[in-house]
This record gives sequence, structure tokens and C-alpha cells, in this order.
Amino acid sequence: MSRHPLTFQVLAQCKTTKAKCSLMTLPHHVVETPVFMPVGTQGSLKGIIPEQLEQLNCQIMLGNTYHLGNRPGPDLLESCGGLHNFMGWPRNLLTDSGGFQMVSLLDLAEITEEGVKFKSPYDGSECLLTPERSIEIQNAIGADIIMQLDDVVSSTVSGPRVEEAMHRTTRWLDRCLKAHKRPESQNLFPIVQGGLDPKLRTESAKQLMERDVAGFAVGGLSGGEGKDQFWRMVHLSTDLLPNDKPRYLMGVGFATDLVVCCALGCDMFDCVFPTRTARFGCALVDSGQLNLKLKLFGQDFRPIDENCDCSTCQRYTRAYLHTIATIETVACNLITVHNVAYQLRLMRNIRESIMNGTFVEFIFNFMDTMYPKKD
Ligand code: GUN
Ligand code: ZN
Repeated sequence: MSRHPLTFQVLAQCKTTKAKCSLMTLPHHVVETPVFMPVGTQGSLKGIIPEQLEQLNCQIMLGNTYHLGNRPGPDLLESCGGLHNFMGWPRNLLTDSGGFQMVSLLDLAEITEEGVKFKSPYDGSECLLTPERSIEIQNAIGADIIMQLDDVVSSTVSGPRVEEAMHRTTRWLDRCLKAHKRPESQNLFPIVQGGLDPKLRTESAKQLMERDVAGFAVGGLSGGEGKDQFWRMVHLSTDLLPNDKPRYLMGVGFATDLVVCCALGCDMFDCVFPTRTARFGCALVDSGQLNLKLKLFGQDFRPIDENCDCSTCQRYTRAYLHTIATIETVACNLITVHNVAYQLRLMRNIRESIMNGTFVEFIFNFMDTMYPKKD
């Protein structure tokens, strides 16, 4: 029996690809994988509320340590029994460690062995996010899966900095494991780094696998590198990481990448893309995206997607959404609901095809629809 509050039961393995369908049981709900996890900040998903997420059968979502650490802050979260209670979300939560957001969003961060130093965007004061502090905040938030603080280098950087970051990530993992106060209710995942260098990726995965953890993440990808290198690094990482523990590919959420990376053996994904693009008036469909702000939708009285069963597609037309897209925040909610429904349906279809032994046909159909032949 695992000593971690996570069990991972493989239900079906694709005979051709590395894809598999599993049941991951966490303290607040069971999760069918492969899974896409919508991303919230400030304890709520932008443009959607927890009951809408529950209606869409979302089983796990992301919260953000950095934002939550500032407001409402760990003390308040602790006093109300954690973020699940605070935000009224009874299902699973995963929190990222915060460093990646600092480095990628703020560009003001300085990384030392101690941690990530940055100027607070709230009041300009100097802050230091150490591995210990990140875990302390994540323990107060109380998510079912928490992430180690990692040293992330942009995937377009090469040279000694990539190797330094990979070794530092392992050292920070050990500090995180030591600081973790709630191993009986929260799973701490390490993160494979190593840039686009196969040797460094391999070494990173091997080092992390020597630690007693319930699952693994693959980080540092989908940040501007080419698809060829991106997929190679994923393929190499999943070849090394155990098949009987969940493999979480961080920051990946374009439909094509989800399909390909499921085939490469990843079980969990997250990305701000579907919710962010909704706020710009873009709706996800099987053939790509509809920019509902375009004039041509002003006279289009069809739903976003005739085959979508989401509450938006049941009631509202493209013409209506076009009209309100630029002026009403409610449009943001309506399109966000559809986009999250799209992502979750895509993952459900992937899982069903793996279970039925038809995942390879699924991939061909998906690609034919997404990239139709021009002639
Ligand atoms: N989100 C997307 N990529 C990463 C990564 O490499 N590390 C962390 N902590 N979060 C991420
Ligand atoms: Zn819809």
C-alpha cells in the first residue's frame, strides 16, 4: 500500500502508444486520467464559478500559491480549514509552488540557492520565496497535490545555467520534502527539469525517482521551443518515469498537444489557455478556434458548437455572444464555460477511446478535423 494519500489504478493501456486510462484517488474526489485541470487564481477560476465547474464534472482544478499567499494569506486560509472550504470547492485542488509564476510573469525575479527573490507587485517590497516558505503556504492552502519549488529556466536558454537549475531543483526538492508538514493529506510532486538536453533530463528524472513520492511532473517545456524538441523531451521523460505513478505535464493545454502528449504517456495537464482565450472572445471548437469578435459572427445564429452539451451552447447563439463579447463580462463567463467544457470533453473522448482500444483511430480523426486537407 502506498503511504501517500493517492492511489493510481491503471484501467487500460493503449497497445500502440504509451497512452493509458487510470483512476487516481485523492482525498477530495476520484480523478479519471488523462485529465485536464483548469487553472484558477485568487482561489477562483477567472470567468467561472465552482458550481459550474462541478456541473461540467471537473474533478480537480489548480489554485495558485503565489496569489493566495498574498491574499487572503496563509493565516486566514489555515483558520478556515484551507482553500477547499474558503472557496466552496469540495473536489480536488492542486497548487503550483509559486516560483515559476514569479519568474515567468514578473521578470523581476532573481534566483539564488536560498530561493526566488522578487519585488512584490502588491507593495514593491522585497520578498524571498524559499522552498520552505512555498511548502508552508501550500500546507496552509491544503491542496490535494502540491508542487516542489523548482528552478525553471526558459526552454530557449542553453548552457551551464540549465545544468545548475536541474541540480538546484533536486536540492530544493529535498528541502521541500523536509519542510512538508502534511504528508498524510497532501501529495508533494517533484518536477523534472533539464531544458532541452536529453542527458540533463535523464539525470533529473533519475535523481527525482530516488525520492519517495506519489507522482512526478515534467516542467520547463512549452515555453517557446519547437514542437519537435518539446515532444522529444516529453517522450524521453515518460520513458524514464514509472508507469504506475501519475505523470503531470505542466503548462500544456492546446488540444493537439494534449492528444500527442497523452499518446506519449502523460496523465495530467494544466494550462491557462482555454480560460484566458475565452476572455478575449475566442471559443474552442474541433476545427480550432472561433474569434467571436469577428464581424462575420454578428449574423450567425448557430450555437458555438452544435454538438456541445454545455449550458452556453444550449441557449446562446454566436451572434448574441458576438454582440456582447466586447461589452459584457457575462460573455466572458459564457465562453469560459464552453471552453472548459470543450477541454473536459476532449479528455473524456481520449479516455473512452483508450478504454475501447480505438485511441489510434481517435488520433487520426482528431488530426483530420483540426488540420483538414486543403484540396
Ligand atoms: N508551469 C509550467 N511549467 C512549469 C514549470 O516548469 N515549473 C512550475 N513550477 N510550474 C510550471
Ligand atoms: Zn458549448
